[in-house]
Amino acid sequence: MAGIMQTITVNLGDRSYPIYLGKGILAQTGELMKRAGCGVKVGVVTNPTVGKLYLETLQEVLRSAGYSVTAILVPDGEEHKNINSLSAIYDQLIRERFERSSTLIALGGGVVGDLAGFAAATFLRGIPYIQIPTTLLAQVDASVGGKTAINHPEGKNLIGAFYQPKLVIVDVSVLQTLPKRELAAGLAEVIKYGIIQDPELFSLLEDNLEKLLGLDQETLTKAIAASCAIKARVVEKDEREEDFRAILNFGHTIGHALESQTGYERLLHGEAVAIGMAKAATISAGEGYCDDASLKRIHHLIERSGLPTELPSDIRLEELVKRMEVDKKTDAGKIKFILCGGIGKVFFHRLSPEEIKNRLSHKTSTE
Ligand SMILES: NC(=O)c1ccc[n+]([C@@H]2O[C@H](COP(=O)([O-])OP(=O)(O)OC[C@H]3O[C@@H](n4cnc5c(N)ncnc54)[C@H](O)[C@@H]3O)[C@@H](O)[C@H]2O)c1
Ligand SMILES: [Zn+2]
Repeated sequence: MAGIMQTITVNLGDRSYPIYLGKGILAQTGELMKRAGCGVKVGVVTNPTVGKLYLETLQEVLRSAGYSVTAILVPDGEEHKNINSLSAIYDQLIRERFERSSTLIALGGGVVGDLAGFAAATFLRGIPYIQIPTTLLAQVDASVGGKTAINHPEGKNLIGAFYQPKLVIVDVSVLQTLPKRELAAGLAEVIKYGIIQDPELFSLLEDNLEKLLGLDQETLTKAIAASCAIKARVVEKDEREEDFRAILNFGHTIGHALESQTGYERLLHGEAVAIGMAKAATISAGEGYCDDASLKRIHHLIERSGLPTELPSDIRLEELVKRMEVDKKTDAGKIKFILCGGIGKVFFHRLSPEEIKNRLSHKTSTE
């Protein structure tokens, strides 16, 4: 099919689904949905920011393919990934008599994807949904793997379900309108995939970073495809994060603690993860697992991407480590950390809060 450059399948038995990847493939949504056997009634969940850019096009594409389409708008922002927005989605689905055969489309970043996915997982005990991710982070991470959730005032993603989409449509051209800061934040997750599984992807990023930041479509497609393939393979092995899937949390133990300590306002998720990865690499080197050259390459690539590698100067280490302890990964007083043994290799390792604090207390010199 024209426009589609690649298809990656997530193999999960009867819940398997394709990720279509290409330039301008938003325009093929109707055909792709027909291929997947979707019913005629469709609700597109989006926010005003993304809606203004792509909703009209998508609605036209769907209508001309014979679908009956309703737009469901939720406010933009992480603070709206909550029960109120979810409830408003249910209200509209009920008002417009959505049925088991109706489909929801998530058109937006990870916030819209998680919210619409959870609505789909729960409405009428589950209706099909499609991810059309529009941020780099959502294209390489949030749209693949079936984790859906909303936040609770007490914590992020506390209410949710594992519920796989019917298909994922990744149109790289929508990244043209993405703010540069969001693009860099998404790149942090791409770098993560390189570090945890794929030295070739890491080198591709090193060799083509300027092209990526300049939104060169071919390079972007390569990097996104490699990332989605890694996520797909990890999810296939451990769909419900009983063990192995946790390697996707490389850089996230520190990252999550940082986000929470800075009130989810100062740092984007990818920025916090960038610092977390830089620090996890430093800790890995300090513990004797990561060689100096790999450590330098990791720090350098993060920096070149315009992402931070150092903790903000006002962050109190004591409190940061405390927040890691309350994270669900602690066991017997030690924190389960994902360390790297060079690029492409990660493993789990338990560290005491003291050990972490000591390793974090000095700046890394990668000169
Ligand atoms: N389900 C998962 O596996 C998973 C994985 C990672 C993250 N997440 C979740 O994803 C969320 C973060 O997602 P995100 O980083 O995409 O943030 P986001 O959804 O808030 O999007 C970031 C901003 O970019 C705007 N935007 C989106 N696409 C655009 C485009 N093409 N052009 C211009 N503006 C655009 C959005 O409106 C928003 O203002 C968090 O809630 C996180 O918990 C989920
Ligand atoms: Zn992440």
